[in-house]
Amino acid sequence: MTQDIERVLFSPQQLHETVHKLGEKISADYAGKNLLLVSVLKGAVVFMTDLMREITIPCSIDFMAVHSYSGTQSTGEVQILKDLGMPIEGYDVLIVEDILDSGRTLHYIMNLLRSRHPSSIRICTLFDKPSGRKADVTADYVGMLVPDAFIVGYGLDYNEKYRNLPYIGVLKSEIYGG
Ligand code: IMP
Ligand code: MG
Repeated sequence: MTQDIERVLFSPQQLHETVHKLGEKISADYAGKNLLLVSVLKGAVVFMTDLMREITIPCSIDFMAVHSYSGTQSTGEVQILKDLGMPIEGYDVLIVEDILDSGRTLHYIMNLLRSRHPSSIRICTLFDKPSGRKADVTADYVGMLVPDAFIVGYGLDYNEKYRNLPYIGVLKSEIYGG
């Protein structure tokens, strides 16, 4: 796997520090609220499991799975593969995403979940790639800004590979023919 990585963008230590800070901020902001973390499978699962352990207030978790990407190109189409397992009325929903790129995935999810009348709904993304934005979406919590490159590791994949790398790396463009 490592021979496919051009350079390491964020080390495990840097990722840990970023997730810790997000957890602190979320714990302060949501004190006394009915926090429900909604993670978008599969990319956000590593971030989710680390983030929830940095949150020091009570919270619930749930998952949904969508398909929005094929290879390195956003198709613009979002398909629900797995819906939430519970009603979200009365919850302060915080969507936990790995990376906000075109924003189409989160735009779709936000509209869908808003229609179910949660008490509030906000977005926490570990990475934000503002250069790729196509839909009108802004994250309320952003771990780190990333350049316009295809990154893998810490849950993020290229065609289902590299999710288990413990760091974030830039994928060599020859791997995806870029
Ligand atoms: P969006 O709808 O374009 O914002 O796509 C967001 C989804 O695309 C993320 O949840 C990732 O699964 C995927 N994605 C976008 N950029 C990257 C990247 O650089 N590496 C890996 N996956 C990415
Ligand atoms: Mg994803």
